[in-house]
Amino acid sequence: GAQRRLSPAAITALKGERPIVSLTAYTTPIARLLDPHCDLLLVGDSLGMVLYGLDSTVCVTMEMMIAHGQAVMRGAKKSCVIVDLPFGSYQESREQAFRNAARILKETGCDGVKLEGGEEMAETVVFLTSRGIPVFGHVGLMPQQVNTTGGYRSLGRSDKEAAKIRRDARAITEAGAFAIVIEGTVEPLAREITETIAIPTIGIGASPACDGQVLVSDDMLGLFNDFKPRFVKHFAELAPIVSKAAEEYAREVKERRFPGPEHTFQVKK
Ligand code: KIV
Ligand code: NA
Repeated sequence: GAQRRLSPAAITALKGERPIVSLTAYTTPIARLLDPHCDLLLVGDSLGMVLYGLDSTVCVTMEMMIAHGQAVMRGAKKSCVIVDLPFGSYQESREQAFRNAARILKETGCDGVKLEGGEEMAETVVFLTSRGIPVFGHVGLMPQQVNTTGGYRSLGRSDKEAAKIRRDARAITEAGAFAIVIEGTVEPLAREITETIAIPTIGIGASPACDGQVLVSDDMLGLFNDFKPRFVKHFAELAPIVSKAAEEYAREVKERRFPGPEHTFQVKK
């Protein structure tokens, strides 16, 4: 029969069964390539940096998220597809969050939305999940808050910071999220949260103790190399491959070696 995408509930059910595999995707061809190997494809607002050259995710819009959500949905057959709610689309009120999350679900056909936040977002997560919108939480380092928290450093070293992240993870779990991203968080805390909450933790820079892992695909492919945080591993080095291809193309055009006869439409005499 036709292959179905994994549901958010099926992702939740993987906790304790096996590690959950997730990557970001933003376009149809990349979604097609990653989908067979993943459980969850995340249309992350990291696309602001990775695709649009912005310095943070703060300027990402609903229109960008919807366009790329639609593109990824065209390429995903089996993975659960989750789209990030961009900065400013959900923090104002639970009604604003519902309106924008519903718009993403209706216009892309994706399986759920992700939003950043802890205790302060718990009532919004209750509002969404009790009205039919699966929510993927995101605690620890929250890139949309870079302007107030001032940067990208690992969290959870001090008792105060650890207590806050622990409370955030519990609040979002109790609010009904189907899973939670833990970003940029020290191992003992990520492990403790993973062992004490009922939903899967998907780590990025949060140790192997999490129930699953996620990376930005352009980072792990070695395509986006503006900076390389400690937690990124390059599983390929695509940037030099792209540069070399462009260099060879330029040379062949200048030398009139491309296009060759095999690339040229002739008319028979
Ligand atoms: O936007 C993104 O890519 C993310 C993941 C890194 C979790 O939120
Ligand atoms: Na994100």
